[in-house]
Amino acid sequence: MKEEGGLKGSSQFSRRGFLKIFSVSLAAISGLILGIPALDALISPALKSKLTSFSKAGKIASIPEGSPARLTVASSSKDAYLNDTEMHNVWAIKKSDSDIEVFSPICPHLGCSYNWNPQNNQFECPCHGSVFNENGKVVSGPAPRGLDTLPTKIEDGELYVEWEKYQLGVNKKIKI
Ligand code: FES
Repeated sequence: MKEEGGLKGSSQFSRRGFLKIFSVSLAAISGLILGIPALDALISPALKSKLTSFSKAGKIASIPEGSPARLTVASSSKDAYLNDTEMHNVWAIKKSDSDIEVFSPICPHLGCSYNWNPQNNQFECPCHGSVFNENGKVVSGPAPRGLDTLPTKIEDGELYVEWEKYQLGVNKKIKI
């Protein structure tokens, strides 16, 4: 009888012990799963870094002179262990082989994509009607500053462009 009682107590204890360990483990795993996004949000900006600066945009000779031309440039960043590459269409104005200005395709008002209108010889943003001349200066509309120029360099007959983003809706070009 004594033994039975002892066995019963031990069995109850181990069941209780198991349940306790199980619920603590479950809480720890849930906490870990729920905590991952928060941890990622905290750590990612620190780990996310720009990998390359200048990206090849094309041969100078192949960029038409006079009217704005669309070019594609790449930007790369590293997020923890992953490398990420994004492509961007920018606007290039070639005045000569050594004088090329490249505009960010992002409207400085609120970030829409604008287009070149060859009939009116101006850049027009469809969102709120901002208009810019071919030098990127504001002609009309709510844009608080002209189009943002991107850093460029020319090497061995190739144009290189550095992708950057700037604060929207302010009258100064502030890199973000
Ligand atoms: S986003 Fe271009 S005018 Fe508003």
